[in-house]
Amino acid sequence: MTNNELIDRYGRRIDYLRVSVTDRCNLKCIYCKTEDFELLRREDILTLEETARIVKLASEMGIRNIRITGGEPLIRRNLAHLVQMINDLKNIEDISLTTNGILLNEFAESLFNTGVKRVNISLDTLKRDRFKKITKSDRLGDVLHGIETVLRIGFSPVKINVVVIKGINEDEILDFARLTKEKPISVRFIEHMPLSEPHSYFPLDSIRKELMKLGELFPASNVKGCGPAVYMRYKKAKGTIGIIMPMSEEFCDNCNRLRLSADGRLFPCLMGERFIDLKGRLRSGGNDKEIKQLIKDAVLTKFLSPVDSKGNKMIKKSMASIGG
Ligand code: 5AD
Repeated sequence: MTNNELIDRYGRRIDYLRVSVTDRCNLKCIYCKTEDFELLRREDILTLEETARIVKLASEMGIRNIRITGGEPLIRRNLAHLVQMINDLKNIEDISLTTNGILLNEFAESLFNTGVKRVNISLDTLKRDRFKKITKSDRLGDVLHGIETVLRIGFSPVKINVVVIKGINEDEILDFARLTKEKPISVRFIEHMPLSEPHSYFPLDSIRKELMKLGELFPASNVKGCGPAVYMRYKKAKGTIGIIMPMSEEFCDNCNRLRLSADGRLFPCLMGERFIDLKGRLRSGGNDKEIKQLIKDAVLTKFLSPVDSKGNKMIKKSMASIGG
């Protein structure tokens, strides 16, 4: 492997880094946290400069696409400063953001101006009561307002991530799908992944049939993204529909990513608990070469299949600590 690219043992080129900037969140979604989830100590959270240094070194090794995640990334102070530092790196081609949307109205413009051009908004319901039940917060209005704001500013694509949860929101699939007819939004349905106990999820392989109730669907291949979603669109629709099936589909073959947690651990895989501690080396005076070696090590420990020894697909850590 040359210094300029990160290739794993299966020949996959790793060019996508998800960067969690905080484990804090202003919502408490029912499906996001494991029971034993504990907040990080503040001193363990990387400074923006430390984060930018890791991104810079990674960008010198082939990372081209950055996604800012959390927790809720918009509650991290001076986030736009980090975005600016990342945007200044010559190898970085794309900076995106995953957010719950509550603070978008406030921060969208500064983020857009510093380099975030596309945004994913997590939203599982369009009903106010249900939003309260899922998130323990009454701020659906803020999220909807935020979506309007990013569309107006010109973020593209704007994606809405809908985690489909059995018995909670599967009856809203068509309401979300309908949004794509009128607005240049990509609505992406995601299968609910178990964090600690295996569970029965709402399988999305039957979703096409449900979606056809609103009209015929055509493949859409021109949606900018770095992940495993499959995209479709209705005739004359302004937006698209994506489906992400972490549970019923095996898409790990094409994995192109690493995940950096807010406390500087580099995770080769969303599943499983293995990580490489970058913060320790960073704070004990590690030089660039040493940090780069650790990034390579993380890539070389990526594996093909996400199942654990019992055959379960399990995440075993809170989304809030790793940002989905
Ligand atoms: N299963 C699937 N997706 C999840 N997310 C959070 N928790 C889960 C889960 N258990 C999603 C969020 C967001 C992204 C960061 O991860 O809804 O879209």
